[in-house]
Order: sequence, then C-alpha cells, then structure tokens
Amino acid sequence: MSARIFSIANQKGGTGKTTLSMNFAAGLSRHGKVLVIDADPQGSAGQWSCLSPDHRPFPVSVISIGGNLAREATRFSQDYDFLVIDCPPTLETDTMSLAMKISDVILIPVLPSPVDLWASIRLTDAIEQAKIHNRKLKPYIVVNQLEPRSALSKAMKQALEEFDIPSLKEGIRRRAIYRNAAVEGASVYCMGKRGEAAAQEIDEIIKEVL
Ligand SMILES: Nc1ncnc2c1ncn2[C@@H]1O[C@H](COP(=O)(O)OP(=O)(O)O)[C@@H](O)[C@H]1O
Ligand SMILES: [Mg+2]
Repeated sequence: MSARIFSIANQKGGTGKTTLSMNFAAGLSRHGKVLVIDADPQGSAGQWSCLSPDHRPFPVSVISIGGNLAREATRFSQDYDFLVIDCPPTLETDTMSLAMKISDVILIPVLPSPVDLWASIRLTDAIEQAKIHNRKLKPYIVVNQLEPRSALSKAMKQALEEFDIPSLKEGIRRRAIYRNAAVEGASVYCMGKRGEAAAQEIDEIIKEVL
C-alpha cells in the first residue's frame, strides 16, 4: 500500500496552512487512515492535537519530522491511506521542495487579495521544478478567509484567472469556528451545529481533490 500524499504549502505565514491541514485531515479520516506530518519547525499542528482533551482526542495522529522528510514520509506511506504534510512557511530550507517531490497534490491557501496571491509567485517556480521529477503533482490554490457576505473582488477574480496554478472551486470562508476549533484542539467536524457549514466546505474541498 502507498498513501496519497497531500502537502499544504505557502511560503507566507498566516495564510491558513495549519488550519487547512488539520481540518482537511479530520475530514479525510472519514475516507481512510490519515497521518498528519508536521514539517513546520514551529510545530503548530503538533500543538493543536495536544490541546485535545482526553475524552475527545483529535481523530488523526500528528507526528513532527525534523529530519529527512522524504525518507520518513515514504516509510509512513506503507501504513496509511493519506498523508497530509503541513509545510513550513519558507522556500529557504529544502523541506517544501522535498514535500513537492513526493506529493500527489499541493494545496496552497492564499488570502483573498491579489497582493497575497502574487506573494506566492515564487512557489510556481518551485512547483515547475518539482514537476520535472514528479509528473503526477497537482497544485491548487485554495482561497481562505473569504468574507462571509461579500463576493470575491473583481481584481482577485482576474488575478486567480491569470495565475499559473488553478484554484479549487470551493474556498474557505472566514469563520470564528475555525479559531474556536483550534483553541479546543478540535476540527470543525466535532463542533456540532456551529461547525456544520465549515465542515461542509472542507468536505467540498476533499471531494474536489480525491
Ligand atoms: N477561514 C478562517 N476563518 C477564521 N480564522 C482563520 C481561518 N483560517 C485561518 N484562520 C486563523 O488565522 C490564523 C493563521 O492561520 P494558520 O492556519 O495558523 O496559518 P499558517 O499555518 O499558514 O501560518 C490562525 O489564528 C487561524 O485560526
Ligand atoms: Mg502553520
């Protein structure tokens, strides 16, 4: 058996990598056995799962990898259906390029402004490089922190259309429940009614990439 590998990457911090990694992994756990690999030295994904109370453990194991990501991920890939790699916010170390070499899909969360999208432009070069050796690699932009009641700005729509990386149809709205779930070491899937709409959008994202 060999797992499908998803990397969540953006060289900017604060765009929603860890939020997407953890909620995406929780949703994926309904489709198979999932492992989150925390490849960010800040260790947010690992801390997140440690916040879970004993009576409601996070549904997916999280391990931190500081060493050889490719070797470790290949080893874990025998025992899981899906690996979700939460990447560090930098292109300066080789972690992100290693993740791209072994991944099937890269999800790139970006904030809904053209400036934030263009800030990810260096990623497109790294992805092109990775594709030379990993032709199965599929990158997608995921727009995060969408304003609940307003549509995407015209400028952002145009920027997304012109960008080299396609974007998923479903984005992620700005919702307090994402922050609340993180504080409780939970995913939006176990926040009851309050988490329903968020869980639905994560499910749509999963449907698009599975
Ligand atoms: N869709 C969202 N709605 C509300 N808050 C969000 C959303 N996505 C991320 N956040 C919050 O924004 C901050 C940065 O997100 P995080 O996932 O830690 O980003 P990164 O891992 O890219 O640095 C966190 O406080 C997180 O709770
Ligand atoms: Mg993070």
